[in-house]
Amino acid sequence: MAMSSPLLTLHLLLVLATTTMVTATTPPTAHFLGVNYGTLGDNLPPPHRGMELARSAGAAAVRFYDANATLLAAAAASGLVFVPSVPNELIPSLAASQRAADAWVAATLLPFRRSPGLSYLFVGNEVLSDPTTRSRWPRLVPAMANVERALRRHGLGRVKVSTTFSMHDLNHQNVFPPSSGVFRPDIADAVMRPLLSFLERTESYLFFDAYTYFTWSANHSIVPLPYALLEPSPGFVYHDPGTGLSYANLLDQMLDAVVAAACRIGHCGVRLALAETGWPTAGDLDQFGANVRNAATYNRNLARHLASGAGTPRRPGMRMPAMVFALFNENLKWGPGTERHWGLFYPNGTAVYEVDLTGRRPLASYPPLPPALNDRPYPGRLWCVVRTDKGPVNETAVREQAAAACADKAGLCDPVRPGGACYLPSTVTAHASYVFSAHWNSFSEDYGGCYFGGLAVETTVDPSHGSCKFPSIVLK
Ligand SMILES: *[C@@H]1O[C@H](CO)[C@@H](O)[C@H](O)[C@H]1NC(C)=O
Ligand SMILES: *[C@@H]1O[C@H](CO)[C@@H](O)[C@H](O)[C@H]1NC(C)=O
Ligand SMILES: *[C@@H]1O[C@H](CO)[C@@H](O)[C@H](O)[C@H]1NC(C)=O
Ligand SMILES: *[C@@H]1O[C@H](CO)[C@@H](O)[C@H](O)[C@H]1NC(C)=O
Repeated sequence: MAMSSPLLTLHLLLVLATTTMVTATTPPTAHFLGVNYGTLGDNLPPPHRGMELARSAGAAAVRFYDANATLLAAAAASGLVFVPSVPNELIPSLAASQRAADAWVAATLLPFRRSPGLSYLFVGNEVLSDPTTRSRWPRLVPAMANVERALRRHGLGRVKVSTTFSMHDLNHQNVFPPSSGVFRPDIADAVMRPLLSFLERTESYLFFDAYTYFTWSANHSIVPLPYALLEPSPGFVYHDPGTGLSYANLLDQMLDAVVAAACRIGHCGVRLALAETGWPTAGDLDQFGANVRNAATYNRNLARHLASGAGTPRRPGMRMPAMVFALFNENLKWGPGTERHWGLFYPNGTAVYEVDLTGRRPLASYPPLPPALNDRPYPGRLWCVVRTDKGPVNETAVREQAAAACADKAGLCDPVRPGGACYLPSTVTAHASYVFSAHWNSFSEDYGGCYFGGLAVETTVDPSHGSCKFPSIVLK
């Protein structure tokens, strides 16, 4: 049953008197913890094996980033709840034409009309967090509406249509305090208002991606790690002066910030769900806190917390669909090292750590975890250089990455031009290493970090020589 704001709860109590109206007014809220089935790896096992592994971890659902027929068939056969996605690129065409939406649903989902597991569909993934596709934003709700209509026409009216949001969709990603949560002004009225109306009207859910890992690491000197790991954190309770509510963990705080943002635009009643959450097991030198101990702790606590039905301070008793990111470590994911280490499983099917997503397994019954060795930021300076530990350097690719980096900021590459302090030795690798360090130093907040198409690696060894000083990163 949906427990929302105090106002809504009061409303619920009133309608309880006339019991026949309850289902019409407050649709039952699904509760499950599933797993996101990302496929950006060249070494992943076949889909039926993926479903087995998801089940073995206690997942009740699998979410996909597209509508690949092979994966959907394996999911349907597994009996799990499954959540296909419409790829972001299709949004404009599905928004423009009901016929296109009908055809997409007929081609991809009609084969699963009798699969009870098919009960959610995401139209796009974090669409509103990508400013480079701003022209798609106004097309999102029309695409969702066309798809929803197409589903009904094809006997799939049970499927809840939604899309996924990230914390970037909150203004300044601010969750301190949760009651100050507000959608970004560039989307609040134009997109979020009609979108939340749609979700309420169709009794669907507002699916957020909420990672306490990122919010904690951006603010680790103030926010205690146990608070982000959903562990008891003695001596730290976060009081929200706006509501008078107290918080015992960072995830509840993030969820309630979303509730506040929805309320602020008049949609207090919208039901909340978690499309992605989780914790990485490894990362680059600058990605402190990414380790097996923390990842296992977070996901085990998450499962217990969600299964308890405790809800959040603002929505006590709230139940919701939720999905952990991710089933596998995905070796082809772009960006910082953590991106390739979110999995519950290695591609060979071995568990990275044990977890029971049903939340029923007592915490004390798990075997001991390895110690956490990187919970604090690396205390020294870091540089970003061309990686040489993965075989011969592809100089063509390195030159392309360096040229692209130079184009991002005037003067960035002057030191490696003739006469510059870092011109000698004049090799592709030496020049690119300087450029990678300089670019990382200038843009560490905004870009994928020290990655450069997988050609770069962080180092603690200062590559400076003579008068050539490489810019470095110092973690705060
Ligand atoms: C769908 O997934 C299967 C199994 O992972 C893969 O072999 C196939 O190439 C995918 N098809 C498309 C069109 O991406
Ligand atoms: C960090 O946490 C404190 C509260 O503990 C909060 O006041 C502050 O806004 C947070 N900063 C960021 C960047 O989230
Ligand atoms: C699976 O892969 C992991 C990580 O590479 C490795 O540690 C483990 O030993 C492998 N398991 C098996 C059964 O090969
Ligand atoms: C080297 O990189 C270039 C450009 O990215 C690519 O086209 C080429 O296939 C790569 N060569 C090898 C041997 O990987």
